[in-house]
Parts: sequence; C-alpha cells; structure tokens
Amino acid sequence: MIGQLNHVAIAVPDLKAASAVYRTTLGAEVSAPKDMPEHGVTTVFVALDNTKIELLAPLGPDSPIQSFLTRNPSGGIHHLCYEVEDILAARDRLLAGGARVLGGGEPKTGAHGKPVLFLHPKDFCGTLIELEQA
Ligand code: CO
Repeated sequence: MIGQLNHVAIAVPDLKAASAVYRTTLGAEVSAPKDMPEHGVTTVFVALDNTKIELLAPLGPDSPIQSFLTRNPSGGIHHLCYEVEDILAARDRLLAGGARVLGGGEPKTGAHGKPVLFLHPKDFCGTLIELEQA
C-alpha cells in the first residue's frame, strides 16, 4: 500500500540554526520557512535527490511538537512520511485493521498542499507515521 518515502521530519528547537546546519555544514538545498498554523509548526524542506528532510519548529503555544521537544531538547526524528495513492482508501484499510488514525481520521492539508493523515506511533513500531496522497 505505501509507496515512496516522501520525507523524514526532524523536530528542532531553532529552525534558523537547523537550516544553517543543512545549508552550510551539509551543503544541501534548503527552502524558506513556511508557517503551517493548522498544524502548529513552521517547516523548512531540505531537497535531496531521492527524498526530502522536513525541519519542524513549534508555532504557537499549543504546538503538537512541543512535548516532543521537551523530551528531546536538542531535537530528533519526529516522523516518517510515506506516499499513498488514495489516502481515504488507505485510512479505511488501516482502520479496518485496528490501527489508530490521529485527529479523528479526516485528512488535513499538509506542507505540500496535499491531504495528509497521521498514524499512532504505538501501532507502527514506535514511529509516528504521516501518510500523504501522492
Ligand atoms: Co511531515
């Protein structure tokens, strides 16, 4: 069901510093920051040949990544994003199998303007998973 790895997301306490690490130290192509108020994060994308890295920093007081950063103050891998052909069909298949889909199961618009859903890490090897419609 899942297709390509769309991105690996890393939560960071300081988006400017993290962007500099990827742009200057690692020599990668780094996008401008984009606020995603619906998701409570500001994102930066690092373009690689075969995938992307999403750097995430909290936006607003109720950011869903704040507790992660409290536990991991220097940042860390936050989620993996896999592409699916049909996000509603994927959701229904996962729900039928007993997996937990976060946020009531209705897709939101993700950082690339496409529908996304998040899956409970306890059902997926301890890793938060984002599904994005390809
Ligand atoms: Co993501």
